[in-house]
Amino acid sequence: MRERTFVMVKPDGVAKGLTDEIVARVERAGLKIVSMRRMKLDRGLAEELYSVHRGKDFFERLVEHVLSGEVVVMLVEGELTIARMRELSGATDPAKAAKGTIRGDFGSSITENIIHAADSAESAEQELPLFFKG
Ligand code: CMP
Repeated sequence: MRERTFVMVKPDGVAKGLTDEIVARVERAGLKIVSMRRMKLDRGLAEELYSVHRGKDFFERLVEHVLSGEVVVMLVEGELTIARMRELSGATDPAKAAKGTIRGDFGSSITENIIHAADSAESAEQELPLFFKG
């Protein structure tokens, strides 16, 4: 099934110079990066992106982190893209993520975990229009 999903290299990933490595891993997995942009989020957009986590104890830490520097947002398309991007990313907590996954190889904490990838078709539908029109 051909799908589109939303992916974001977080400020720690950008600061560590990992954008090209992540692009290469996505493309080697046979997925297509339809559109990509480096940008700074504002608070409204960050809170909207993570609105499902509003009220959780880590919400403010998460929002502060994604506001702490530039991010790279991507629209990624391909067969089973949502599941494959989650596989490439690895477990949310880098300490539990397998070697060979982006978070397992490069993440330093559950907040500084390098990459965000939408976790379901519903999330992708909510997140993509915040960054990509059409
Ligand atoms: P991400 O894929 O961007 O989606 C939500 C983010 O919330 C997640 O990556 C983590 O960075 C963060 N997160 C999820 N669970 C926790 C938690 N228990 N403690 C701190 N941060 C969390």
